[in-house]
Amino acid sequence: MAEKTFYDEIVECLRLTRRNTPAVSVSDEVLKEFMTDVPVRPEPVSEPAPVPAESVMDAAPMPSAPAAPAVSASDVAAMGWDDLAAAVAGCRACRLCETRRNTVFEDGSRQARLLFFGEGPGADEDAQGVPFVGRAGELLTKMIAAMQFSRQEVYICNTVKCRPPGNRNPEPDETEACRAFAERQIELVNPEVIVVLGAVPLRFLFPNVFGGIRMLRGKWMEYKGIRVMPTYHPAYLLRNASAKADTWHDLQQVMAVFGKTPRRRGQ
Ligand code: URA
Repeated sequence: MAEKTFYDEIVECLRLTRRNTPAVSVSDEVLKEFMTDVPVRPEPVSEPAPVPAESVMDAAPMPSAPAAPAVSASDVAAMGWDDLAAAVAGCRACRLCETRRNTVFEDGSRQARLLFFGEGPGADEDAQGVPFVGRAGELLTKMIAAMQFSRQEVYICNTVKCRPPGNRNPEPDETEACRAFAERQIELVNPEVIVVLGAVPLRFLFPNVFGGIRMLRGKWMEYKGIRVMPTYHPAYLLRNASAKADTWHDLQQVMAVFGKTPRRRGQ
């Protein structure tokens, strides 16, 4: 059976909403509107086979990279790509280095106009050293395809570069230890738009803004002159399918910046 697109999942979610909560009116017109705006099915994106969860859980941490000399935030702020990647690979600035298998730096194009900013690696990302390659990553890839981009042409990175054990949220001191790295990455890419995925990266970029992801999603914000669209994290969408329609609304606002509109069926 053909793999479901992000769009197919939104339509399914609207159907379920109508069936399970008749009081919530999702009209045939609304469904039809979604149906007629179906994006062309994207080419399958080749990804490395996911590592079975149990093999990741059971595996002992890899020996960490030898400690690099500690670098200051001002050193990092002046780094080019090679030095930055090396500094991340050798970083031992917080406790997360003790349990990581790999640091997780980036995926996609450093020349991208659109940057997706996540929270931190999970088990699959820790095993492969690449962001968003697990189940949440598969959904993110579908979201990117629905926006008429490919993973290769956008840039993907995280707030923290090492996996928080047990998939817990990173602690504030851990995000601060990674701050200079993430800020320099964003500065070097200098995208036109950042899509912020969930509460942790939102708080990281906007520590003084009142409101969480529920309140701020779908509203344009600005970070150092770059337009920012906060939306739900794909892992949240895996648990809360009904939030996909809101996310699609947020992503369409980003598409509009790039002159992209959802394609009609057959286009
Ligand atoms: N969740 C994230 O926030 N980042 C990843 O790389 C994977 C899952």
